[in-house]
Amino acid sequence: MRKSPTHVRRSGSSASSTTSERRVIVNTRTQVVIVGAGPAGLLLGQLLLREGIEAIILERRSPEYVLGRIRAGVLEQGSVDVLDLVGVSARLHKEGLIHDGVEIGFRGARHRIAFKQLVGKTVTVYGQTEMTRDLMEARTAAGGASVYEAEDVTLHDWAGSPRVTYRKNGVTHEIACDFIAGCDGYHGVCRASVPADRYKKFEREYPFGWLGVLADVAPPWGELIYANSERGFALASLRSPTRVRCYVQCGVGERVEDWSDARFWSEFKLRIGVDVADEVTHAPSIEKSIAPLRSFVVEPLRFGRLFLAGDAAHIVPPTGAKGLNLAVSDVFFLSEALRDHYHEGGEQPLDQYSARCLRRIWKAERFSWWMTRQLHSFPGDAFARRMQETELEYLFDSRAAQTSMAENYVGLPLS
Ligand code: FAD
Ligand code: PHB
Repeated sequence: MRKSPTHVRRSGSSASSTTSERRVIVNTRTQVVIVGAGPAGLLLGQLLLREGIEAIILERRSPEYVLGRIRAGVLEQGSVDVLDLVGVSARLHKEGLIHDGVEIGFRGARHRIAFKQLVGKTVTVYGQTEMTRDLMEARTAAGGASVYEAEDVTLHDWAGSPRVTYRKNGVTHEIACDFIAGCDGYHGVCRASVPADRYKKFEREYPFGWLGVLADVAPPWGELIYANSERGFALASLRSPTRVRCYVQCGVGERVEDWSDARFWSEFKLRIGVDVADEVTHAPSIEKSIAPLRSFVVEPLRFGRLFLAGDAAHIVPPTGAKGLNLAVSDVFFLSEALRDHYHEGGEQPLDQYSARCLRRIWKAERFSWWMTRQLHSFPGDAFARRMQETELEYLFDSRAAQTSMAENYVGLPLS
């Protein structure tokens, strides 16, 4: 049974007056309201378009602001496959860089984990910003409805007959819908709309963050280098043949203003090694930011007609490069659940969404936590340091351990 399609339409405007202001309410109806135009929301929009399911995306920021956020850089093959499916991968295949492995720096040496040899798979280095731009352009080309700078997005009756209200240019809008997809990140309104006793939270905060720098200079490293150094973790990454992205572990309370470019590069060089860092360490930064590290999961991901996806539902520390990839698998599973519900009817596909996502989420949480524990410095815990050293030595000596790391890094199947 296919539910009768709903259409994005104005079903009329009603005007109400208060003593101080005139409030105009514009009513609309659609099948799915997607809150958030990050990678999760935009990709879900494309997946639903492909299934003939109508959606409106509500984003509280401007498109320029969304594109200005520098975040992830590594895509699993499964994520690339989903982008292929929605036809938003032409530029990715042209400009993305295929990487067969990564290196781990430890005690002055570098050890390669050769993904292709070990598990026959690779990853693609392509900035989240570029993927977001591609998705935005595809949505505009397809005529999909998106509202940027939507203020005060508010969820109503998500357990029964959902509606979402927001304000734009002083006008209040109300959208009636069948479902709400909460793709609004860790600080969004969707999870916050659910009473805390309706879900379970699992959380771990780490006593450090990552200070990241973007700079226009040719990367001297061919592959990503994750370095475990006595001074703390560092990561040498890249965005293109002319742009590097580098990180150093920093304290939780540190401020970007206290890190001049000179201080950043001198610390980076000490941790990564002079042989690779010498050529980049004079480049001026074009972006610099600090991200806290956290592991976080809520269970379940479905509340009546509301579904959480991406960072709204979980956070991983970036060490395993899993956050963006999990956002992709969540919305892929959600699009399948909504497709089966609309095409075949019934609640069963919707009921399975949460458990299907959580199986994959917990595996990515485990891997990201493992990578974080092996590579960062946890001062004051001598036993933990010995365990870390032993685990890394074991990894470098054991093909079985390398295979396990490679299998997780390139991404577990979307099943
Ligand atoms: P977001 O990108 O946070 O998007 C949510 C959107 O919702 C935003 O546009 C926000 O403005 C909007 N929003 C919020 N509140 C509201 C509201 N009330 N109303 C309307 N809109 C709202 N992941 C990887 O896979 N690989 C990596 O290499 C990697 N590296 C990373 C490096 C760093 C330094 C960081 C910080 C993260 C990294 N990640 C990585 C994680 C990845 O960036 C995130 O997991 C990803 O952005 C999640 O996408 P999302 O769409 O769920 O959430
Ligand atoms: C990045 O390039 O920003 C990046 C790469 C790998 C990670 C995290 C971030 O694990």
